[in-house]
This record gives sequence, C-alpha cells and structure tokens, in this order.
Amino acid sequence: MERHVLFLLSSARPAGNTQALARQAASGLRGTCDWVDLAQVALPGFADPRPAPMPPPEGALADILGRMTLASDIVFAAPVYWYALPAPAKLLLDHWSGFLDAPGLNFAAMMRGKRLWLITVRADPDPAVPVAMEQAMERTAAWLGMVWGGALHGLGDAPGDVCADASWHRAPDFLTL
Ligand SMILES: Cc1cc2nc3c(=O)[nH]c(=O)nc-3n(C[C@H](O)[C@H](O)[C@H](O)COP(=O)(O)O)c2cc1C
Repeated sequence: MERHVLFLLSSARPAGNTQALARQAASGLRGTCDWVDLAQVALPGFADPRPAPMPPPEGALADILGRMTLASDIVFAAPVYWYALPAPAKLLLDHWSGFLDAPGLNFAAMMRGKRLWLITVRADPDPAVPVAMEQAMERTAAWLGMVWGGALHGLGDAPGDVCADASWHRAPDFLTL
C-alpha cells in the first residue's frame, strides 16, 4: 500500500531541531509526505459538551481531520517540553476525544490500523526524560487500535544541535517498514 505520512510539528520555534530531525526522517521515505505545523494553526480550545452532543469539527480542525483521514502514518514531531508534549500537540490529542464523540464521524474506525510515530528532541541527555511522553503516545495508539511505530529520540538545544546527534544518522531509516 502507498504510504501517506502526515507530520504534525509542534515546536514553538519554526526552524528548530525537531523539524530538522523529522525532515531527515522524511528523506528516507517513499510515498507522500504532508506537513502541518500545529503551533502555527489556530486550533480552537477544546470544550467538552458531554452529555450534550459534540458539534462536528470546523475550519482548521476539520482540515487536520481530513489530512489524518488520508494518512497511513501519523508522526508527532514534538520537542520535550516539561517532560511532555508541547501544548499544540496535546490540544490536538484532546480534540481527538471530541472526534470520538462527534456523531457520524466514525473516528475510531478511521484511525484503526494507521501507524502512529513519535519524533522528539530534548536538551537533557538523561534517557528517562522522554519516557513518559513516549509511553503516553504508545498507549494512545493501543487505545485507538493504531499500530505503534516507535519513537526516535534526538538530543539538542540550540537549533541545529541535533545534526550532530546519533539520531540524525538513524533518522532516514526510522520510518521505513
Ligand atoms: C518550554 C520548554 C520546555 C522544555 N522542557 C524540557 C524538558 O523537560 N526536558 C528537556 O530535556 N528539554 C526541555 N526543553 C529543551 C528543548 O526540548 C530543546 O531545546 C529542544 O531542542 C527544542 O526543540 P526545537 O529545537 O525543535 O524547538 C524545553 C524547552 C522549552 C522551550
């Protein structure tokens, strides 16, 4: 099956290490790549109307849902912020709960079987730092019946640092099946 890989960026700086590492990973891919910078997209705050019905997504949220529908693979490219995902990535995940509750979207069926990946960069070399974040993503994949592809962990702080990290050389093979 033709791969269609959606990269979801979420760093608060546009040309940082995480985007560089994600583009290095994309360089090894055959198939179509799509890119969304969640930090540049004005997603609405998440509101939970339950038990009232969830309204259907509109605007930027509907656009991202459409891109996710087309994707065989969804890659969160996220720096470690306080041992966790950056807020724009977490906000999208919260909206996934809304998609699950929106009548007629069939979000659970749509997501089942897609591959979920994490590309992350942190400054602290302690390998325990990104563990909670990776486990959260892996459990998210399992809960949605997605296939967990795995995580690529980069090290770097100043923009460009990650090019000197071992993850840079592993990146082109990371997303291959
Ligand atoms: C708000 C914020 C929180 C951060 N929290 C952590 C952290 O908990 N652990 C860590 O190792 N690095 C942390 N860092 C460092 C970033 O992960 C590091 O600078 C990374 O290279 C940023 O990725 P980027 O270049 O793609 O923006 C933090 C940076 C920022 C701006």
